[in-house]
Amino acid sequence: MNVPADLLVKDGDALEAPENVQAILEKSCFDCHSSHTTFPWYSSIAPVSWFTKEHVKDGREHMNFSTWNSYEDEKKLKYLEKIPKAIQSKMPMASYLIMHKDAKLSDADKEAIKAWTTEAAFDLE
Ligand code: HEC
Repeated sequence: MNVPADLLVKDGDALEAPENVQAILEKSCFDCHSSHTTFPWYSSIAPVSWFTKEHVKDGREHMNFSTWNSYEDEKKLKYLEKIPKAIQSKMPMASYLIMHKDAKLSDADKEAIKAWTTEAAFDLE
């Protein structure tokens, strides 16, 4: 389910976070917040499938790591501010974690993401 690295390289607009952060985001966020969603997982489970498809479409419309570099700095900053809050409670959402236990963020994952958002925001300002 991880996004193959070569897909990211081909996409000039894709986010390039430090390797450890990138790996966490790929594992826990990319299914819904990237264009490279691979979801063999939802197609077969009917009640979950429509639900998840909407969430993927929705998540991507809100924030797409695959088009990250095409965003204005202002928009990047807005997301960098929202991400630490989002991961504190609702992201990835509980309904998704039922099927994707490995996407659950550990405390260390959260710290790594937070450190990255602070640094990335600092670099932009
Ligand atoms: C199962 C799909 C799914 C996963 C996985 C997921 N998200 Fe989301 N995300 C959404 C949806 C849908 C929305 C928009 C609705 C909402 O805010 O609840 C959203 C909204 C957001 C927003 C707010 C964007 C805005 O425009 O205000 C942030 C920030 C965010 N997600 C971060 C993350 C991060 C970071 C991860 C990984 C740790 C993650 N999400 C994993 C579906 C997902």
